[in-house]
Amino acid sequence: MKIHENFSLKNHNTFGVAVSAKCFVEVSSVEELIEAHQYAKTQSLQTLILGGGSNILFTKNFEGLVIQLNLKGISEEVISENEVLVTAKSGENWHEFVQFCLGENYGGLENLSLIPGNVGTSPMQNIGAYGTEIKDTFVSCQVLNLETLELENFDAKKCNFGYRESIFKRAGKGKYIILEVTFKLTTKNHQIKTEYGAISSELKNLEIENPTIQEVSKAVITIRQSKLPDPKVIGNAGSFFKNPSISREQFLEVQEKYPEMPNYPNADLVKIPAGWLIEQCGWKGKQIGNVASHQLQALVIINATGNATGKEIFDFSTMIIESVKEKFGIELEREVNII
Ligand code: EPU
Repeated sequence: MKIHENFSLKNHNTFGVAVSAKCFVEVSSVEELIEAHQYAKTQSLQTLILGGGSNILFTKNFEGLVIQLNLKGISEEVISENEVLVTAKSGENWHEFVQFCLGENYGGLENLSLIPGNVGTSPMQNIGAYGTEIKDTFVSCQVLNLETLELENFDAKKCNFGYRESIFKRAGKGKYIILEVTFKLTTKNHQIKTEYGAISSELKNLEIENPTIQEVSKAVITIRQSKLPDPKVIGNAGSFFKNPSISREQFLEVQEKYPEMPNYPNADLVKIPAGWLIEQCGWKGKQIGNVASHQLQALVIINATGNATGKEIFDFSTMIIESVKEKFGIELEREVNII
C-alpha cells in the first residue's frame, strides 16, 4: 500500500477539476482498506472514499486522505430456473459490469447502461435511468462499518432507497464503506422495460419490435450518447440537480402561469423536470467563463474549457438555483456531492 502525497485528483473526478489531495492511496483488498483507515486515524487525517469520481465536485483541495477503492471481481450463483444472484465488488466499473451481465444474458440492468461510476457507488444514490433504478434488482450490499471495523450486510429495506437517495447519503453518511453489491437478475423471460418514451421511439427507429435485453441496452446507449456529454471528452457529472417534487397546490399555482410545464404526478407530489425549468430560465447552452449548461440537456453542467475550477462550477450552479427560484418559486437541490 503506497501513500502518495500532494496527489493530483484531476484524473479522478469526471468534472476534470484540477485539485489535489494531501494524501492518496489505492486499496485492492478489505485488509488494505482497514490499514488505510487506521493510518488516517493515527495521522488525524479526514478520509474521503472515492469510486469512479463521477458524482462529486471538488471546490477545493482535499486536506486529508483520499482512499480509492479498487476492489475487483464478479461472482454468480444460480438460485432458480430463471434467476441468478450476481455479486460485483465495488471497484468494478458500472457500465462494464452491465455489459458483463448482458454478455451472460442476465436481465434487469440493461436500462442502466452507460451510467458513469463504479458498482460500489450505485446504491449510494440509487442510480436510475429510463424507468429503472437499482433498487428494482438490488438484493443486498456488504459494507465495512467504520466504527466497529466489522463487515455487515444491508438488504434493500435497510438501505432505505428513495429517488437518488439511500441511508448512505443520510443517517449512514461517512459510517460505512460499500464493498460489494448483489443483484437478482433474470436468466430468461426477461422483463423488458421500454415504456420510457425515448427507448420505444429509438427501438422504432431501429425497426425492432420485440427487443432483447441487449437491444434495449443498445437503444439506451444511443440515446445517452446523443444528448449526454461523454465525461472523457467534456468534464461533467451527469445531472447536476435532482428533479424537484412539489406539492399539488404549488404545482397548480405554477401551472396556471406556465400551462405547458411538463409534470409527473406521483402520490401527493408532482415531479417537474429540472432540465425544463433551467432551460426556461435561459440557461441551456449558456457559458460563463469556463462553465456551461450543456446545449442538449440543460440539467448537465459542463467544464466547457477543461479549465474550470470547482468553485466556478459551484457558483454557476448557485446562479441556476437562484434564477429557477426567482422565476418559478421552486428550489432545486444539487444531486452531485460537493466537497
Ligand atoms: N427537459 C427540457 N430541457 C432540457 C432537458 C430536459 O425541457 O434541457 C425536459 C423535457 O421535458 C424532457 C424532460 O425534461 O422530456 C426529461 O428529460 P430527460 O428524459 O433527459 O430526463 P431527466 O429527468 O432530465 C433523468 C435523470 C438522468 C437519466 C434520465 C433518463 C435525474 C436527476 N436525472 O434526467 O440521470 O439519465 O432521467 O432516465 O433524475 C444522472 O443522474 O446523472 C442522470 C443523467
